[in-house]
Amino acid sequence: MQMDKSPPTIIYILLFLATLLYYIFSKKHTKKHKLTPKLPPGSMGWPYLGETLQLYYKDPNIFFSDKLKRYGEIFKTHILGCPCVMLGGPEAARFVLVTNADLFKPTYPKSKEKMIGPSALFFHQGQYHSQIRRLVVNSLSPQSIKRFIPGIQALVISTISSWASSPHPINTFQQMKKFSFEVGILAIFGELEREKKEELKKNYCIVDKGYNSFPTNLPGTAYHKALMARRRLSQILEEIISERKEKKLLDNDLLGHLLNFKNEDGKTLSDDQIADNIIGILFAAQDTTASALTWIVKYLTDHPKLLQAVKSEQKETYLANEKGNKGLTWTQTRSMPLTYKVILESLRMASIVSFTFREAVVDVVYNGYLIPKGWKVMPLFRNIHHNPEFFDEPQNFDPYRFEVAPKPNTFLPFGTGAHSCPGNELAKLEILILIHHLVNELRWEVVGPQDTVEYSPFPVPHKGLRARFWREPNTKEN
Ligand code: HEM
Repeated sequence: MQMDKSPPTIIYILLFLATLLYYIFSKKHTKKHKLTPKLPPGSMGWPYLGETLQLYYKDPNIFFSDKLKRYGEIFKTHILGCPCVMLGGPEAARFVLVTNADLFKPTYPKSKEKMIGPSALFFHQGQYHSQIRRLVVNSLSPQSIKRFIPGIQALVISTISSWASSPHPINTFQQMKKFSFEVGILAIFGELEREKKEELKKNYCIVDKGYNSFPTNLPGTAYHKALMARRRLSQILEEIISERKEKKLLDNDLLGHLLNFKNEDGKTLSDDQIADNIIGILFAAQDTTASALTWIVKYLTDHPKLLQAVKSEQKETYLANEKGNKGLTWTQTRSMPLTYKVILESLRMASIVSFTFREAVVDVVYNGYLIPKGWKVMPLFRNIHHNPEFFDEPQNFDPYRFEVAPKPNTFLPFGTGAHSCPGNELAKLEILILIHHLVNELRWEVVGPQDTVEYSPFPVPHKGLRARFWREPNTKEN
């Protein structure tokens, strides 16, 4: 009998099944692999440097719009030693800042955190942030800031009088910085002794100069000087705080709110926590508002017909107030519709905070793309404000476009979500009051070239917009 040497059929069947299983499994595996979200498109640039030079030495707007054209609304890059994902659309900004805000924490360079003070609210997320934020929001709500109108008006009158009497052209941005600092002091402390105010101002200016300098902590450097001035600021603030505590003054200003705070366990804020928040708020308030004011002066100068229309709107109120002899009321500041639209359009055009930074706290998938844990995430407000899909002919300055409300999430000059700007009403109020007096009482002309933009880091017209101011005939000198 001849032996059958071929394997039994069962072996064939088993082999077939094994192959089939392997095939199915490996297919499944490959499929799973394929489903793993990929990183967004984009370039990571040079090792370590990434694309930092391209961003910082070019107009950042050109950098962003080139990338958006090339890769679409989400792209990756590498800036200042950090991998980043940049997001240029309104839905993405909402995803990061509103609906999934807990997955993205605020992030700042350590050197800046040290300069302002680590307890400032905007470095935090969660309970501490929301507790402090509530205090700030309450003390800067429309209801609370109404009572600052006479104080802001007095500051405006003395500020613009000094411009009219200056024999030289002034640097508009620097002057607006002085003004917005004073308004910040008023909102935080109410009335403050002159001597204390001067000390605060002197040291704050040194901190401000060092804030954007290279962080080398060696004697003589701007950064070192700023750190020393920051220490002195803490001492001055401690003195102010202890005086307030001694006098048991329960004032309703921001300092009062911070001093009266108790959490659910009855714990109050430490002096350091209060000082860090005060300095943080001064920082958040000063350059932003000053940049907005400077751009408004520039846009009004560039559009004489519009300036004339704003003048007529403001003149009515001025005459009703006996040429400024009676103070502005809250209701009057609420009925300046054209001036208000000029402010909104200036905020859109200039997009002072052109983007913000967050950091992913876990791996996040957005629109099929992976944003890995630890990567920086940047919603690009300016690109949303300059997208023709949302703002027709975005390069034209046209306040009347705001007669129709912008589409949701497309107009974000004050950000959105958990960290949106609590000072927006105060900023708009001080701008309205300044424009009211400026257009009624002064004339001006801009001096020198005007076409370039400087970043400090907020956008400012060339050399801070040098301008010469005169008093309008028949207006009150102060
Ligand atoms: C035109 C003027 C201003 C502009 C354009 C502006 C813009 C912004 C933006 C875009 C944010 C959000 C940043 C982010 O999400 O990372 C913000 C936050 C903030 N702003 Fe303003 N701001 C202005 C004036 C002010 C003023 C006058 C104050 C206070 C008196 C202020 C206090 C703050 C604070 C404390 C935060 C942080 C809020 C938080 O983290 O919860 N800002 N601002």
